[in-house]
Order: sequence, then C-alpha cells, then structure tokens
Amino acid sequence: MSALIEIKDLVTNFYTYEGVVKALNKISLEVESGLTFGLVGESGCGKSVLVRSIMRIVQSPGVIEGGEVKFHMKKNGKDEVIELLSLSEEEMRQIRGSEISMIFQEPNAALNPILSIGYQVSESFLFHISEQMCAKVLEDLESPRDNTNFIWKSFLRYAYRVGSKDAKALPLRIFNKIPILKCWDKRLKEEATRRSIEIIDKLHVPHPEQVVKSYPHNLSGGMKQRIVIAIALACNPELLIADEATSNLDVTVQAQILELLNELKKEYISSIMLITHDLGVVAETCERVGVMYAGNLCEVADVREIFKNPKHPYTKALLNSVPRFSTEGRLAVIDGFVPNLVNPPSGCRFHPRCPLTMEQCKQNVPDLKETGDRHLVACYAVD
Ligand SMILES: Nc1ncnc2c1ncn2[C@@H]1O[C@H](COP(=O)(O)OP(=O)(O)O)[C@@H](O)[C@H]1O
Ligand SMILES: [Mg+2]
Repeated sequence: MSALIEIKDLVTNFYTYEGVVKALNKISLEVESGLTFGLVGESGCGKSVLVRSIMRIVQSPGVIEGGEVKFHMKKNGKDEVIELLSLSEEEMRQIRGSEISMIFQEPNAALNPILSIGYQVSESFLFHISEQMCAKVLEDLESPRDNTNFIWKSFLRYAYRVGSKDAKALPLRIFNKIPILKCWDKRLKEEATRRSIEIIDKLHVPHPEQVVKSYPHNLSGGMKQRIVIAIALACNPELLIADEATSNLDVTVQAQILELLNELKKEYISSIMLITHDLGVVAETCERVGVMYAGNLCEVADVREIFKNPKHPYTKALLNSVPRFSTEGRLAVIDGFVPNLVNPPSGCRFHPRCPLTMEQCKQNVPDLKETGDRHLVACYAVD
C-alpha cells in the first residue's frame, strides 16, 4: 500500500500565559492511501492539534515548530510528493479543499445561514471545477474545433478559480457581457446544480430537489452534517479528515453517516482520517488505528490487531474503559488525568499512570517501533 501522508517529528506548541503547551511531541506517522485511519485517545491528547497541523490551520497561539508533513498527491497518474509545511499560504489554500478536506463537529459553523443549500454545494463544485465538468458543458454546446475546446476549458477553470476568490474578478464579469460566455456560465451553473442534487441524494437526504432550494435553518442537525459532507466531497479530495464530526449527533444518525462515508469513499475520496474518542466507531469503520496520549503516538496497528492484541498499557486501559454489556458493576475507568502539557511528565508521558513503569520510562521517551506485523508501539515494557 502506498503512503498518502508521511509525518515526521512534528512539533506544535501553544504559547500561553501559563507557559508553553507542548501539544505535539515529535509525532511521526504514516497514513496509507485508500484506508480509513482512526485516531483515538482521551480528550486533550492532541488529536485535533495533529490534524490541524497537517492542514496548517492551528489556532493562535499555536505554532508548528518543526518536522515534516509529506503529502503524496496523485497528479495525472503520477505520484508527486509535496512538503506541506514549506508551501506558501496561497499554495496551501489550493491543497485545502481540493486535496484535503476537513469536516468538524459543528455543521452550523461550516454553513452560511443566508445562502441556500444548493448555492453552497454548487459553489464547491464550481470552485474546484473539474476537467470532466468543463468537458461535459462544452459537449452540450456547439464548439468549433477541439483545440479551441482546450482553450475554453482552461479559461472556464481559470475564470472560476479567480472569480471564487474575488467577486469582482474580471473573468467572471466578462461572462455576463459576451453572449456565448454568458450561455456557458449558465450551463456550468446548471451542471453544478445537477451534481449537487446527485451528491445530496447519495447522502440519503430525502427530496434533494427541494433541499437545494432550502436554507440551513430548515434542516436538522444530522441533515446539515450530511450537507457539510456533500460540500467536502464535491471537490473530490484525496483525503477527508473528520474531526469528531458525528459526535454531536444521536447514535443512529451517527452510524448512518459513518456507513455512508465508507460507502462514498471509493467514489469520491481515496482516504479518510477519522478522529473520535469512541472505540466502537473505530471498530466499525476503520482499517487502521493510531492511539494518542498527551501529545505522543503510543501505538499504531490494523484495527483487528489493536482490538485482539493491544500492546501499549494506555491502549489496554482505553479498551478496558469501554462499557461492556457482559461486565457487571462499575465501568472501568483509567486512573488519573491527561497531564497538563505545560509541564508534562518526563520520559514517557504515560508513566505516572502506567502499571508497568520502570526506571528508564521516567528518563527517556520511547520511540515508536515495529513490534509485529504492521504493529508499532512506543513502550519500553513491550518487546
Ligand atoms: N488554542 C489553544 N490554546 C492553548 N492550548 C491549546 C489550544 N488548543 C489546544 N490546546 C492544547 O493542546 C492539547 C491538545 O488539544 P486537542 O488537540 O484539542 O485535544 P483532542 O482533540 O485530542 O481532544 C491540549 O492540552 C490543549 O489544552
Ligand atoms: Mg479534538
């Protein structure tokens, strides 16, 4: 399986009044292409900071201090490796949305309350206007020769790219002056609406033709989150990152949406990174799992392996804290708290809570090492 993202020694800190929060402590991780990768860990372990660092949307006062994030982009069938941390902000903006999309817990923050659903989904299609979409529009219209076709295609794409950034952009204004362009503009918008209805329908939103005409406040939380997913999928990203995206929804809706994501994965996206604190969700939807604790990755393995053969004491504790119907009495919880990351424990950050602590755990940070079939663990007590 080929790599999609390779993270090496990633360090992100927050400069707060209480001191420096060491949120990511040299994270190294490879996420393969084509998989659903689950990232788990208690609240405050650094899951959101990790994915925000990949996207380079860490909130102030956070700073990405070092490391590498290599992204393997498939371009015209070729594998192109891009170092995301060294891109300019403008180049990174091109990657966000078109190559890597992210959805969050709160759909209201992602939707504009005064624009129709149809407008917002179409906009995503138009901004990331594909070769195929231009071709379709051109096919419907009479066009004189093939080579002019190419020029028009490039022009249409360019006009929308520029136009989406700046409402007063010249190319889009030209569209309304020259009859043939006006006609194309109309067709493009119709094509975008058609695709919007199609994708909303795929997300099992009832009556998509009416939904495109409605506004966010007309829809329920679950439906709104589906629309947010539709917008994210419209640009055909290589990677979709869902940060606790379904945690706010009730269990049934959550299950439906996760099932849908997996279904749509093949058609619209190649890989998913799913962040959750719910191990049940991981078991059902992910193929590979990474476990985070206090800014470190402590274990990475295939999903079956991690449930059958967890090796890191933290992973074991996490699995034991999952409610089981068969066990009577109290729910097992992990003793203690995730430490304050301004003054994290020395050595392995889990050592104060760990039943297997040895002297060297207090001194040194264990590396994430291969300890079995595609199974990585960072623990001195595991060989
Ligand atoms: N804006 C911020 N300012 C200060 N510290 C932050 C900020 N955002 C996150 N952190 C710190 O980074 C650590 C990881 O947080 P986060 O990635 O949100 O955890 P998770 O997503 O695993 O629940 C926490 O210790 C948190 O306090
Ligand atoms: Mg989070």
